[in-house]
Amino acid sequence: MVFSRFFKFMSHDMAIDLGTANTVVYLRGRGVVLNEPSVVAVETLQGVRKVKAVGDDAKLMMGKTPGTIEAIRPLRDGVIADIDVAEQMIKHFITKVNGGKHPMPWRHPQIVICVPSGSTSVERRAIRDAASNAGASQVWLIEEPMAAAIGADMPVTEPIGSMVVDIGGGTTEVAVLSLRGLAYSTSVRVGGDKMDEAIVSYVRRNHNLLIGEGTAERIKQEVGTAKPPSDGIGQTIHIKGRDLVNGVPKEIQINQGQIAEALSEPVGTIVEGVRIALENTAPELAADIVDQGIVLTGGGALLAGIDEILRDETGLPVTVAEEPLTCVALGTGRALEDPVFRGVLLAV
Ligand SMILES: Nc1ncnc2c1ncn2[C@@H]1O[C@H](COP(=O)(O)OP(=O)(O)OP(=O)(O)O)[C@@H](O)[C@H]1O
Ligand SMILES: [Mg+2]
Repeated sequence: MVFSRFFKFMSHDMAIDLGTANTVVYLRGRGVVLNEPSVVAVETLQGVRKVKAVGDDAKLMMGKTPGTIEAIRPLRDGVIADIDVAEQMIKHFITKVNGGKHPMPWRHPQIVICVPSGSTSVERRAIRDAASNAGASQVWLIEEPMAAAIGADMPVTEPIGSMVVDIGGGTTEVAVLSLRGLAYSTSVRVGGDKMDEAIVSYVRRNHNLLIGEGTAERIKQEVGTAKPPSDGIGQTIHIKGRDLVNGVPKEIQINQGQIAEALSEPVGTIVEGVRIALENTAPELAADIVDQGIVLTGGGALLAGIDEILRDETGLPVTVAEEPLTCVALGTGRALEDPVFRGVLLAV
């Protein structure tokens, strides 16, 4: 018993949430051990592409690279935009959590990967191959809403309907789950990235100021809100960028009311996705959702007021999962560890 546990611990089995914005790795027996942006900086010298940095280091370079270096997000908009770079990134993270070495094949490590819902079967096979090349003996996939629901402790194995809304970087997935399966699911191409873009274009339109996506993301995380403040203004912050009229760097002030206005379109699309899912839910499952409520996961669930807006619009109880940013990885890890969830893993 002790030995088998020891070997399981040593097996380097892992679960990976391969997200559009962040990749999170869970190690069997250890929990979440890595959480880094899904960004790779690639240098091209004399036509040869070489990985320069991955994760945190690469994200720092975004929007600031010289001509020869490009900071790439291989999984944009919930789909795999650059499969070669995605493969390199997966290998890098697997090796990193393994102390810089490939997992030992004789330990037969199993890897469960949560892939973007929009990925094609060709891309899923490529991801499987990347994990196999990095030392996995067996690769399983899991659908993101299922992993999110398991991570949020929802009763997915029981005949009880649960609704999960995962607001990620690229997509928002809305799903109703029951008995280890997705009774209904829909995905809208709106998530944190679209919110950042909405802030960029709002500031450009209303203040003639060009700001980068990184600045927009910071504003969203610090003072962003889905619901306008009660006085219509709320907190005020300073933001810097380039003046579009005379081309020089400039600083302006913006308040939370304006940010809520900027975010109203992407937030509206998310609300609409939830409404459509509710309309398409079978009555018995809908009855369960009235009792159980809706659970929000993904980094977008941290946007202030998003739960309130959904509560107002649906009249249902809405809660935010405990650790929205690592919830999917946690659920993927539990699916790997606990035999009760085995049925939710997909072979590629
Ligand atoms: N406090 C916050 N307020 C608003 N948004 C936030 C906050 N913290 C993180 N985010 C946003 O959450 C997003 C990342 O969430 P997450 O890591 O769940 O996405 P992902 O799993 O990589 O993407 P996907 O599931 O679409 O593939 C980013 O857009 C980030 O800006
Ligand atoms: Mg995600």
